[in-house]
Amino acid sequence: MFARGFVTMDSDWVARILGHAELRGMGHGQRPEDANLGLGWLYYALARVERPAHAVCIGSWRGFVPIVLAQALRDNGEGGRVTFIDPSLADDFWIDPERTRAWFAGFGLDNVEHHRLTTQQYIETAEHRSSTPVSLLFVDGYHTAEQARFDHEAFSSRLTEDAVVLFHDSIRSKNSTIYGEDHPYVHTVHLYIDELQRRADLQVIDFALDSGVTIVRRRARAIEGDDRRGQAPGASRPSSNRDTK
Ligand SMILES: C[S@@+](CC[C@H](N)C(=O)[O-])C[C@H]1O[C@@H](n2cnc3c(N)ncnc32)[C@H](O)[C@@H]1O
Repeated sequence: MFARGFVTMDSDWVARILGHAELRGMGHGQRPEDANLGLGWLYYALARVERPAHAVCIGSWRGFVPIVLAQALRDNGEGGRVTFIDPSLADDFWIDPERTRAWFAGFGLDNVEHHRLTTQQYIETAEHRSSTPVSLLFVDGYHTAEQARFDHEAFSSRLTEDAVVLFHDSIRSKNSTIYGEDHPYVHTVHLYIDELQRRADLQVIDFALDSGVTIVRRRARAIEGDDRRGQAPGASRPSSNRDTK
């Protein structure tokens, strides 16, 4: 049924992720009782459906999102890779490159490229300046409206026409001391999402599970219905899944 040698995500892989207490939290609605990745299924599915050659994840506590995305890209079998940008400001987890490589390798993944930089620093790199297109962007760094906007706009000229952008911790304000009791701050990503909701050129959908995620995508293609990937030959126009988004 599958191509010879083709390996995909399976229940062992789900158990391996959820077996780590630190990958069961941080607001993605994970539930080890029923082997449930919560919002992780959505991230995985979007990466399988969109088949990005290049996905970017900004910020992660212990790598839940880059792991799920990298697995999906690996399962796509097209050599897709994840650029993971995180300066390790919450603690020292992402400080050591060898430990970071080994952490992802422990999940069978060699397609995550970590940059221990803020987005502000990353946009000055040769890699960013090379203009590699990005078709999936996951914004999960510093959770203020200002930084969410910065992260989004930093990649806006790199996003492909049908790119999917996800914002985590995007549905409500919340007090956080993740950067220390002496550095409390308030999550305000939802205020940036309110702005995006008012833009006629975007489709914006919230999933209010746990800390919540919001999916943002350009509207043009859905209206024009010009993308017929996945349709059976001869199928009539409006049945494309994109028309229902
Ligand atoms: C702790 S995570 C948030 C938890 C996340 N919801 C998860 O599921 O893992 C936020 C990360 O954003 C990173 N970060 C903070 N400011 C950043 C910036 N300006 N650019 C990129 N990453 C940043 C921090 O190093 C931290 O690891």
